[in-house]
Amino acid sequence: MPIGKQKNPPAKQEAVHTDPRYKLVDRTLKRFHYQQDALIEVLHTAQEAFGFLNDDLMIYIARALKLPQSWVYGVATFYHFFSLEPQGEHTCVVCMGTACYVKRAAEIVSTVQEEFGIAPGETTEDGKLSLATARCLGSCGLAPVLVIDNEVLGKETPETTMKRIKEVISTTSSDAGAPVTAAVGQPQEEHK
Ligand code: FES
Repeated sequence: MPIGKQKNPPAKQEAVHTDPRYKLVDRTLKRFHYQQDALIEVLHTAQEAFGFLNDDLMIYIARALKLPQSWVYGVATFYHFFSLEPQGEHTCVVCMGTACYVKRAAEIVSTVQEEFGIAPGETTEDGKLSLATARCLGSCGLAPVLVIDNEVLGKETPETTMKRIKEVISTTSSDAGAPVTAAVGQPQEEHK
């Protein structure tokens, strides 16, 4: 449901902070000093971390920037590079921050990439899986960290990641491996 006409829905913030990907959004908000004209940058970060912009995200960003929710929704729908729907039925976001990178995060990405024929930012042709990367999810002690759908996984290996992905898409995994088509998000500049 579009958020354009919603007014301050209650109690979303608590659920929000249980997901470490919001730390990426917070970091961008802080980097731009919560300036309203940083909206597109913040939306890019959010989409990169989550794969798409859901209502909770847009409400969160609207509150943080003190913008009307309808404004945030309008910007998100105006630009074609933002998506309000998940690109794939399942999403795997691999943290490529320094701590995760040195603990084989790149191997995890390349393993998923080879297995499913998708690069970060892409979705399998059958729409089952989208692969994305993010920078520091704020759980470096668990490196390498990734998020499959809404499940945060730490101390992953290429093997455990593949096992989990296959579990979540097991219903119709036979089509996986097809070439890709859809873009999940836009590249984002490096966090400081
Ligand atoms: S670098 Fe991956 S959680 Fe911090």
